Amino acid sequence: MNHTRTLILALMIALLPACSQQRPSTVGSDAAIEKRIDQLLARMTLSEKIGQMNQVSVGGDISHYAEALRKGQIGSILNEVDPVKLNEYQRICVEESRLGIPLLVGRDVIHGFHTIFPIPLGLAATFDPALVEEGARIASLEATAQGVRWTFSPMLDIARDPRWGRMAEGSGEDPWLDARMAEAMVRGYQGPVLDTTSMAACIKHFVGYGAAEGGRDYNSTFLTERQLRNVYLPPFEAAVKAGAMTLMTSFNDNDGVPSTGNAFILQDVLRGEWGFDGLVVTDWNSMGEMIAHGFGVDRKDVACKAANVGVDMDMMTFGFISHLEELVASGCVKESVIDEAVRRILRVKILLGLFEHPYVDVEAAAAVQYAPAHLDAARKAAEASAILLKNDGVLPLRADKVRTILVTGPMADAPHDQLGTWSFDGQKDHTVTPLKALQERFPGKVIYVQGLRNSREVRTRFDDVVAAARRADVVLAFLGEEAILSGEAHCLADLNLMGSQSELLAALKATGKPVVATVMAGRPLTIERDLSNCRALLYAFHPGTMGGPALANLLFGDVNPSGKTPVTFLRTVGQAPLYYAHNRTGRPYNGEMLLSEIGAEAGQTSLGNTSYYLDYGAYPLFPFGYGLSYTTFRYSDIALDREVYAEDGTIDVSFTLTNTGECDGTETVQVYVRDLVGSVTRPVKELKAFERVALKAGESRRLNVRIPVADLAFYGLDGVKKVEPGDFQLWVAADSASGEPLSFQVEKKE
Ligand code: GLC
Repeated sequence: MNHTRTLILALMIALLPACSQQRPSTVGSDAAIEKRIDQLLARMTLSEKIGQMNQVSVGGDISHYAEALRKGQIGSILNEVDPVKLNEYQRICVEESRLGIPLLVGRDVIHGFHTIFPIPLGLAATFDPALVEEGARIASLEATAQGVRWTFSPMLDIARDPRWGRMAEGSGEDPWLDARMAEAMVRGYQGPVLDTTSMAACIKHFVGYGAAEGGRDYNSTFLTERQLRNVYLPPFEAAVKAGAMTLMTSFNDNDGVPSTGNAFILQDVLRGEWGFDGLVVTDWNSMGEMIAHGFGVDRKDVACKAANVGVDMDMMTFGFISHLEELVASGCVKESVIDEAVRRILRVKILLGLFEHPYVDVEAAAAVQYAPAHLDAARKAAEASAILLKNDGVLPLRADKVRTILVTGPMADAPHDQLGTWSFDGQKDHTVTPLKALQERFPGKVIYVQGLRNSREVRTRFDDVVAAARRADVVLAFLGEEAILSGEAHCLADLNLMGSQSELLAALKATGKPVVATVMAGRPLTIERDLSNCRALLYAFHPGTMGGPALANLLFGDVNPSGKTPVTFLRTVGQAPLYYAHNRTGRPYNGEMLLSEIGAEAGQTSLGNTSYYLDYGAYPLFPFGYGLSYTTFRYSDIALDREVYAEDGTIDVSFTLTNTGECDGTETVQVYVRDLVGSVTRPVKELKAFERVALKAGESRRLNVRIPVADLAFYGLDGVKKVEPGDFQLWVAADSASGEPLSFQVEKKE
């Protein structure tokens, strides 16, 4: 390297820190805040700095923690939500510690605080970012009123294997949908401007956690850098750009490196490429778990590794508080690394206004919880999240035609389980179940026979339920899985309805009465065998506090279902993982011969040689983006404004959407694009836009969707993100498996 270049390089490195500070803050800091941090840092001892990096899950008597709080050895607490106690925690820190630095109080407010909304997978099924943002805002209003100012949400893990129980907590299989939901939740939690109702969002779990091999939680992942950059990182990048204030590292080791010690994702990508200047917290003891991973020898070693890759706060390993002072003394960790971590922690606390407003008004807090407007929003979210998967016309039910309704099934009156996973603060006595909602709506007309005490109960006879069905005009069966059967560490190898639920449905079908099934679950269960035993099936990912009224409104047509599948519904668990944006392979499935068609002595090569299963083919039961309505919609006159686009151009696709049915309805229009040939193989299609469109019965509307060509960029063979000129296809459709493509080209910019 010649002398001049060496000099230039040296100059750039010398200027780097100044340059990086000149980069705009992703969390909204400014020079005044940074100066305030400088002044506070200068007054802090090393011990007090390290104390800020220590997060403790608290419970029981505050006195257990008082001394550590006074010494400044705790920077954040989680799992206390009582406003009286939180005021006391803050008082000790603010009034009895040397520097008076307030605590950052965290909680898993995942889909509501007291008022519980549908689980995030259900919220994703709405394809309605505005609705999701409103729900997050309501969660913040309730939680911050009690003193919680940090939520460990949104979870952005792309999930393409329904055996993984945490699919419930995310926005499904698609990066585009996931990113839009992430932005909405960040906006909702943090608010339009940061004030005392703002709760710092925490985007998690960084990164690739949902790709756990075998769909087994905490299992290893083996994602290439290209797959990370094209599928798993984009939602996090979108959330950082939306201003997310914090991020949580994930439990998994990807390609052998646990995220909590992964310099590539935490330094190169998060800080280096994205300029994220928010706070990075570990997942619960994920620092300590690097010992179990075999990535560190002891707690001091993993604390060193985590600190040096830019982890700012330690959740429940106590590695920082126990070892960082000696690690600094030994030179393993520079104090400048500590300073940067504490800077990011103080930045969040200052931005949230915690120094000025550490306390809450306990009386005012109570009035906010379960406010009527919150319950109303939760009901609307549950209505929009339900997906109509089958309907032979039996729905909507006519209230004036129904004399007797049989309500049955383990999820008909399950106020706790209806809330779904990660609903710590949802109080079940506020839950309105389908049974309660129907009894209230049809006093004296509802017979209730539970049929099965829970989803796992095995019964061989259903005489009681059958007898009741014979007395009813319609049977409403509420099936599914309890909240505990999804969520963290709750993975399943069999996704059929558990216990004797399918047998219950068959017994009801045999009565000849019209049977409508509603499934409440934390994931897409394999329900193919149940479809023949019901005339209609409504799928509600655990719908939350107001699930009962929502489902009643949907079943009786007050509301027209509009949900769409945010994940692929498998025919059998053996198809996992199966998702729409798959690569084409060299032998794409084209409906080859199945088991049922195999003749005697079939020759070795007679069954076709493509990528599929002899017994179940390769198509799902329901594709991504699928959902029926009580009306029907027609897509027509779909046209592109050009045939050839420049790399910096904008695709403008127009189309007519008509409500061809008898009732008003909302359709989620989806736009997919395929890059036919790339420097690397590309998915058969990828979602690039979606929009909910409400139309009156018979109404037609001409619509436009504009997609920047830049949105078609991906990381190709050279590892650079760009649009590769060539041939493309575009669909405007009702789901990922329907519609006919239009063709266009992107030309190289001269
Ligand atoms: C858990 C979860 C994480 C959660 C944290 C705090 O183990 O993995 O999502 O936010 O601990 O409860």
